[in-house]
Order: sequence, then structure tokens, then C-alpha cells
Amino acid sequence: MNLNWSQDNYIKAYKYAATAHQGQLYPGMKIPYIMHLSFVSMEIIGALSVEQCNGDLAVQCAILHDIIEDTDVTFGQLEAEFGLSVANGVQALTKDNNLPKHLQMSDSLQRIKEQPAEVWMVKLADRITNLQAPPHYWKRDKIIQYREEAICIYETLKDGSQFLASRLASKIENYKIYIQ
Ligand code: NI
Repeated sequence: MNLNWSQDNYIKAYKYAATAHQGQLYPGMKIPYIMHLSFVSMEIIGALSVEQCNGDLAVQCAILHDIIEDTDVTFGQLEAEFGLSVANGVQALTKDNNLPKHLQMSDSLQRIKEQPAEVWMVKLADRITNLQAPPHYWKRDKIIQYREEAICIYETLKDGSQFLASRLASKIENYKIYIQ
């Protein structure tokens, strides 16, 4: 079987991300933040066994998806290291801090929609990963709002991957148990 993604590119992107995100922790836990990147890229690799697409683009964007938002790495550095398609994908996945907070997600989703389906897949995989048990300090309203936002992501990007969309739909359904 021919893989449509490269293990060597995975390793390169993962080392780069691990260095850039060094010292950051997973929200509400004392474990390294890069666990999140392992989960998101794992969801992508799972989807690649059934989706026909540019797996390399999807995997690299998955590993690097938070790097512009949460570290000092710039678009230009990303482009120089991983190429323009990856840099454009990550940029679309990055919230624009100049906008009011309540507009940042819809703005990012619109920019993701202008990117190839591989970038849509990363956003679906990101929210699948994030619909685990919410951090202990989240209030009920925040949990409800996070679920609503997940529904919006699903509605906007479901055509990016049938496999990931159906997995996200079941996570959204299950997330109801955290709304008490
Ligand atoms: Ni993320």
C-alpha cells in the first residue's frame, strides 16, 4: 500500500513544533501541550486511510496548526521551512487577534474555506480532539458555547472529509454529557 504522506516530513514538522511550543502545557493539566498536536495529527492519519487527498499537506498543517497563533514562529519562517501551501493553511487556521473575540472563529472558518480540503480536515480534527472532557474550571455557559461553536465548524466544513465530519458529529452528540 502506498502512503499519501511522508513519515520523514511528519518527524521534521513534529520536531519543529515541539521546539516552538516548548514549555507550554495542555490547558488544565500538567502535561506538555504537544500532546494536542499528536492527537490532531493522529485523527488526520486515521482519516487518510479512507480519504483521497494530499496527506502530506494535511499532516504538516495538523502538526503546525497552532504555531503562528501560540508561538513566535512567523508565516515567513513557516513558508521557508515547509513551503507556501503549508504556511497558507496554518495562517487560515490562525485566529486574527485584531478582530473582536466573537468574530475570530467565523473569520478563520471563512479563510479556511478558501483553502484546500486538507486544511478543512485539520479544523475538523482539531475540534474532534478538543471535545474531550472540558477543563475543570470551565463554567456551564462556556461549555454550551464551545459545543455551539463545534456545530458551526461541523456545518461549515463537513464537506472537507466525510470520515472526520461523522466523527465530529458523534463527539458533538456525546459532549452533551458535560452540560449539567
Ligand atoms: Ni488546536
